Amino acid sequence: MKPFILLIFLAALAPSARAQQVGLITNTEGRKTISLDGAWQAIVDPYESGYYDYRYQPIPNGYFKNAKPKSKSDLIEYDFDTSASLQVPGDWNTQRDELLFYEGTIWYKKSFDYQRKPNTRLFVYFGAANYRADVFLNGEKLGQHEGGFTPFNFEITNLVRDTGNFLIVKVDNKRQREAVPTLMTDWWNYGGLTREVKLIETPTTFVQDYFIQLQKGSREHIRGWVKLAGEKLAQRVTIHIPEARIDKSFTTDATGLAAIDFNADLTLWSPENPKLYDVAIEAETDQVRDQIGFRSIETRGTDILLNGRPIFLRGICIHEEAPLRGGRAYSREDARTLLGWAKELGANFVRLAHYPHNEFMIREADRMGIMVWSEIPVYWTIVFENTATLENARNQLSDVIARDKNRAAVVIWSVANETPLSDARLSFLRNLVSHARSFDSTRLMSAAMERHYVNETTVTIDDPLGEYLDVLGCNEYVGWYDGLPEKADGLRWETKYQKPLVMSEFGGDALYGHHGDALMRWTEEYQESIYQHQIGMLKKIPFLRGTSPWILMDFRSPRRPLPNIQDYWNRKGLISNRGERKKAFYVLQGWYRELQQK
Ligand code: GCU
Repeated sequence: MKPFILLIFLAALAPSARAQQVGLITNTEGRKTISLDGAWQAIVDPYESGYYDYRYQPIPNGYFKNAKPKSKSDLIEYDFDTSASLQVPGDWNTQRDELLFYEGTIWYKKSFDYQRKPNTRLFVYFGAANYRADVFLNGEKLGQHEGGFTPFNFEITNLVRDTGNFLIVKVDNKRQREAVPTLMTDWWNYGGLTREVKLIETPTTFVQDYFIQLQKGSREHIRGWVKLAGEKLAQRVTIHIPEARIDKSFTTDATGLAAIDFNADLTLWSPENPKLYDVAIEAETDQVRDQIGFRSIETRGTDILLNGRPIFLRGICIHEEAPLRGGRAYSREDARTLLGWAKELGANFVRLAHYPHNEFMIREADRMGIMVWSEIPVYWTIVFENTATLENARNQLSDVIARDKNRAAVVIWSVANETPLSDARLSFLRNLVSHARSFDSTRLMSAAMERHYVNETTVTIDDPLGEYLDVLGCNEYVGWYDGLPEKADGLRWETKYQKPLVMSEFGGDALYGHHGDALMRWTEEYQESIYQHQIGMLKKIPFLRGTSPWILMDFRSPRRPLPNIQDYWNRKGLISNRGERKKAFYVLQGWYRELQQK
């Protein structure tokens, strides 16, 4: 193909010049939005013939043009409007039986009208799309996003029209070696527009982002910043916290940034009293409202201190699997159900595995007083040598921090899960740790590491990564992948780090209602026995400051085919996917109640 023609073609697929971008817009709850949720027309396109020709060359008039035959002889081989629809938000896998195992491309189209307003900008915001999304409006490319669990937005002010807009998204969930996560995961690769899609209206110059939290180690000094985007960047901005009689004004500089710094007499957020304050960030041209809790989280030796007092993190791991119906969880109700079950267990902490969960989960944790371990999917054998993989992981990390940095519930950022030791891995993960610290110095850094045996009865945590973390996370499966349950009784744990340990995973599979003796795999009795022996072992670890067993609820996994037991579900839940509590649920609940009495 002649070079200049290719350039024209590629230009058609490059983001439109009229779709200039601002960074991530945070706190969409406190802004004027229009939901685009509901039924979207969808075309399943396993061979990506809506994007490439038979020479696997990108085509200028792909499905993003939403073309219609202009005459009876016109050849158009697709039609969104006669194609079946898919619900958004929602994964496609659980919406149609034939899509359960589908990995590939599906094109989504949403038509909408929009009354344009003077001095108003418009953005389209996606809570998440798994895994790679190419987004088009009225046939023009807005941009691409990679990563299945973090939000993104595009400005459409200059592209939107009053009627007949068509928003088209090519979503591709094909797994790739260099991606994050990589090819192998123990969770279902749910594809699609898995979280809410909405339009966000803002003034020409608006409050794009802000960070309002207590300074590291302080319980009365708030330090942070406010960032404006638009034309009139130097403005007076005021932080209002009426209940604390705070009205503090600052001036943004020529880039729209103002550092904020002031003392406040606040009721601190804690699991016992998850106090949230109504906060308004008022600029001359815009105002955003939010609900923010204030608490301090630190370590001192092997202790974790919440608001200056030592705390034990009574936790449980959770996958973003929808309770009772299965599929990717996405709603406030899903969050309330899952966190409600965690509360029933006696938990004050949840490890949201292994990727950023939806914003409802974080905001409900804020409201319910549940501390959160938030993680990015640097999982198992990531290609640590690959710079694009590192950039991708860094983006996912900064995006989740951008979205959740004002949530008191989030106390730990985790950069990895069970990654094999190597120099490339260590420098990759160290890079992520310092990247996170550069955005947020107020929270603790961790990762789920692995242990090794010094001898038959001594286990140690000496992963070199531990040096750079605040909290050690360790996954162990004594009693399931590692011996039988009673093996835990004779084990002694040690570490070379004077740091707190969170046992970030332990447990075993049981099919609800499947009974037998305590040595019979897959039975509730075997799982119950694992927990009994584990708790005995954990109580003896002097530097243990938290636990998050694997896992609250059974979840789908392509790695679990055992018929009549797993049937592609990981059965390590303490609750079945139908909400039934297994025997081990009460063992853990008993221990957590004991800890609460202390
Ligand atoms: C691992 C891993 C989980 C997995 C679990 C299991 O440790 O971190 O993602 O599901 O073990 O094997 O059940």
